[in-house]
Order: sequence, then structure tokens, then C-alpha cells
Amino acid sequence: MSGHFLAAAVRPGSTSALRQVEPRLLVKFELDNAGASHKVRAARHIVRCAVETGEIIPGRTTVIEKTGGNFGLGLLLACADINVPVELAVGLSFSPIKRRFLELSGARLIGVDQLQAGATPREVVEWHLANATALGKSYFYTDQFNNPGSVVAHEYETGPEIVDQLKAFDGLRSLTFVSCAGTGAHLTGITRALRRAGLAVDVTLVEPAGCDSRNSVFVSHRFEGMAVGVNPPLLDWGLVTHTVQVDYAAMFEAQQRFATAHGYLVGNTSAACLAVALELADRAKGSHKVLTIAYDHGLWYA
Ligand SMILES: Cc1ncc(COP(=O)(O)O)c(C=O)c1O
Repeated sequence: MSGHFLAAAVRPGSTSALRQVEPRLLVKFELDNAGASHKVRAARHIVRCAVETGEIIPGRTTVIEKTGGNFGLGLLLACADINVPVELAVGLSFSPIKRRFLELSGARLIGVDQLQAGATPREVVEWHLANATALGKSYFYTDQFNNPGSVVAHEYETGPEIVDQLKAFDGLRSLTFVSCAGTGAHLTGITRALRRAGLAVDVTLVEPAGCDSRNSVFVSHRFEGMAVGVNPPLLDWGLVTHTVQVDYAAMFEAQQRFATAHGYLVGNTSAACLAVALELADRAKGSHKVLTIAYDHGLWYA
């Protein structure tokens, strides 16, 4: 994996809107990004850096990753113009519509037989890397869970974008950032950027009921993208002030409320964060505001 993850290499794509949806609640609409989530930023940065270092050679290299979908969609977008094929190991329990969309967008979904026989997506990737020569492939494994490029992308692209957008809110000095963690990359990167800009930011980490990622306690849940079965390797736990668990009913209520009020059916991780953010925003005082993220669309999971 590359050590070349310079902030200078971050080149933003388009900007997603930051909207004040309640008097004290701000939502960053990452679901409107091309690639349909915040993950496209990490994928784009990692691919760009690997091309610059020569670890990806267009026309020769194949990018490989295990992903529930959003990071994969980002990889496809990042690789579309540079003649780099993308192979993805997607767990069979993940959103079937997303799997179809990944294929429509040009991904090769690998290891379906292996997954059906009980292999994990990680084992599928490892098998392909081990057999690359026999398969005639030269792989670059983006390794999203261990790739610091994801944090850099959010620290120097998403975070500064939000800082810039916050200038529209006169007198805003303090924020509660309500967020969740899969890899932990966006929570870490965005929080660092907000604090570097001089804002007083406390962070509430949202987890599915029964999960405690810090202590690697996981139960099965339907909030695809957060609490994915490992202590988030890119999460700087020192940044997290509070942790709140949300159950399916509370998530669903927030999802309905947001759809009714704003016309967006957001995904389950976004709605779980909204469940907490709406409550905290109701209790906020003075110029303090709550910030959360609409990560992706809910139709993927319908
Ligand atoms: C829908 C959704 N929400 C939240 C996350 C968590 O993002 P991160 O990996 O930056 O922690 C992901 C990650 O894949 C995701 O797909």
C-alpha cells in the first residue's frame, strides 16, 4: 500500500450541499455526490495517489476490494476514465440493488461461488491476491479498512468543504458532530478539520443497539455501513466524546420523519444518526448547532 497520501494530492470533486434542516440541525448531503455517498471521496483519493506513485498502471492494473457497495461505487467512478478494471468481493447479505448497480457500472463481482460456500469477502480478496499470477492479473488492493488515504480525503476535502459552508452561519463557534463509523475514516478526518478551523466540536458516535465497537462487541443489525464487525481501524477514539446506541424502531421513525419533512429517503446509517441528531438539536442552546451526514439513499436498502 502506498505511503503517498499527501494533503496536497487531494483534489475535490463537486461540493455537496450543507442544509439547515431544523433551526439547530445541519445536514451534509453526501448522498447527492456522483457515486451516491461520502465514500466516493476516499476512493477517488486512494486511486489518484496510487496512479501517481505508479502502484496503479492504467491498462495493466486491476483494482480489487471487499465492499458493501458504497466504496465500490466510488472506485468504479475513480477508475472509469483511466482504463482500470475493478473487481469487488461483496458479501451476499448486502443490498441486492447495490450489487446490480455495481455490475451495471462495470464492476466484476468476484468469488460468488466462494461466498456461497461460506468464505468471507476478505478471504475472497486474499485468495485472488494469492492467485494473481495464475489468474493473469496485476492487482492493486485499495484495502479501505487500513488505508490512511481515506482519512486524508475527509480531512482535506470533506472537512474543509464543511468549514467553508459553516461560514454562512454567523457566530457559530461550537458544534456537536453526530456520526457513525465503519472504517472510522470520515469521523476522524472531518472532526480534525473542524477542530483545526477553531470550532469547539464534541462528537457523538452512533452505534446499532447491542454494538460496542470500541470493545469489539457486535450483534447482527440492519444499519449497513456502520459497526461492521471490527473496531473501526481508522477511528481516532480520542475524538469521540459520547456514544449512543439506536434501535431499528428509532432509526425507522427518524427515516420517516426526514422523508416526510424534506423529501429524502435516507439510508439506515444516516437515519440512525438523524434519530440522535434531531434529539440533540432540540436540546441545543444559543448558537450551538448539531451536524450530521446524509451518507446515502434509503432505496438501496428497501
Ligand atoms: C452508508 C454508510 N454509512 C456509513 C459508513 C461509514 O463510513 P466510514 O467508513 O468513513 O466510517 C459507510 C461506509 O461504508 C457507509 O457505506
